[in-house]
Formats: sequence, C-alpha cells, structure tokens
Amino acid sequence: MLKVILVASGKGGTGKTSVTANVAAALSEKGHKTLVIDADSGLRNLDITLGMSDSVVFSFSDVAQDIVTLEQAAAKHSILNNLYLLTAPVVLPKLNENQIYGIIEQAKELSFEYVIIDGPAGLADEVKLFALVATQSIVVTMADKASIRGAERVARLLENENIMRIRIVVNRVRPSLIRQGIMGNIDDIMDEIGLPLLGVVPEDENVIACGTNGKCLIKSKKGGAVTAFCNIAQRIDGVRLPIMRI
Ligand SMILES: Nc1ncnc2c1ncn2[C@@H]1O[C@H](COP(=O)(O)OP(=O)(O)OP(=O)(O)O)[C@@H](O)[C@H]1O
Ligand SMILES: [Mg+2]
Repeated sequence: MLKVILVASGKGGTGKTSVTANVAAALSEKGHKTLVIDADSGLRNLDITLGMSDSVVFSFSDVAQDIVTLEQAAAKHSILNNLYLLTAPVVLPKLNENQIYGIIEQAKELSFEYVIIDGPAGLADEVKLFALVATQSIVVTMADKASIRGAERVARLLENENIMRIRIVVNRVRPSLIRQGIMGNIDDIMDEIGLPLLGVVPEDENVIACGTNGKCLIKSKKGGAVTAFCNIAQRIDGVRLPIMRI
C-alpha cells in the first residue's frame, strides 16, 4: 500500500528538506519506488539538495491541474534508480483536495510505494492541503525551545487531520549542549511535543556539504547522519530498530 508522508515543522530551518531528501534516498536504495514532492512553493530547494535542478520542468500544481501527467512531470534521479522528484510551483494557485488527491491516485497507478512531501515551515496552505492526503507525518524539530514550541503547535494541527501516524525527528542534536542543559534532552522533547520518536539525527557537517552541492549523502556513507537517516528509513519501512545513541 502506498504510504504518503508529510514532513512538517513549526519553525523554519529545522531540517525538513534534508530529512526528506536523505530518507527518500535511503528508501529508494532499499528498492522502494519513491516520489518526493517539494511543497514549499516559492522557496523550493529540494531539487538543489538532490542535485536535480537541471531536470525539473513541471510542478505538483501542473499535475494537480491536469496540465501534465505525473509520469511526464516526475523527474528521475540520475544515480538513484527508484527516486523521482516533483517540484513546487513558483506561486501556489488555488487548489482543492480532489486535485491533490489526483496526484496521489496517479502515484498509485505508477506503482510508487512512498510519496514523501517536503512541506514549508509552520501552518502554510501547502501543509493544510497535503495533510488531507497524508497517511503519516514526520515533524522535524531541533532541540532548542523555539523549534520545540513550533513543533508542538504543528503537531496539534496535524492531529486534527485524518493522519494515522505522526512522529518526531530531532535533528542537529549536539550531545555536549544537551549535557550542559542548553539543548533539551530527547525524553523531555517527546513529552513536550506529545508525539512518539521516529529518529534522532546528529549535527553533521556532511549534511551541509552534500546538501549544498547536490551530492548524495547516503551514497557517500560518511558521518553519523547517514546512519541516522538510514535507520529512520528502516523504521518507516516497518523494521524495529533501537534509537541511535548520540
Ligand atoms: N543534521 C544536520 N547537521 C548539520 N546541518 C544540517 C543538518 N540537517 C540540516 N542541516 C542544515 O541546516 C540547514 C537547514 O536545513 P533544511 O534546508 O533541510 O531545513 P528546512 O526545515 O527544510 O528549512 P526551511 O524551513 O527553510 O524549508 C541547511 O543548511 C542544512 O544543510
Ligand atoms: Mg525546506
């Protein structure tokens, strides 16, 4: 069955695009046909992180409005055979639930196993639209107070939608700052947001380096974040794995 996963956050810059790109890459490496949708209209950058800026022509709104089919619009990754990208429009037109559902129906017909949606920060229109069709959601937070408060707000909004499973990823974790009490510890963060944990990703400069030049981090196999992203992909895929100790 197709799983549709909306990646959201309260505050901006917590790592939604990095989580989307790397978890999708890990799922596609496991042999799952995976579609990523950039839902951050105007500010879109998932194509840069995936090194696919030259291959995107059509956006999810073109597919939603039946201007092109998903098959025509989804760009295939040059190295990862099972990974496809649908980018965001420069300006979001008015779209309804049926039009968004049409994208998901086409993804089913094309035998995609996962659709992962890189949402904008906060409670933007795209988050509300894609929440209508998501079966799961990942709320990405960092361990600082502002990110956690934002994650808690967005979690309550997503709980009001018909999403079966909502989990947290705590990103850019720096153990020394947790020990000094500057960053919250993982248990406290889970309590505060009121959601179960899907994964913990360490601060890792390889994420920045690969994201900036479009190199595939998962293939590079360098640094702690790769293991964390692969573990998150395994858990999404139903494998029971302990949370990595950072
Ligand atoms: N685990 C990590 N370690 C180090 N840097 C990271 C990590 N995760 C993300 N980053 C960096 O943090 C910055 C913001 O990440 P990203 O663009 O993924 O966040 P975002 O939530 O999608 O932002 P926005 O809200 O603007 O869409 C990027 O420069 C990225 O490379
Ligand atoms: Mg982003």
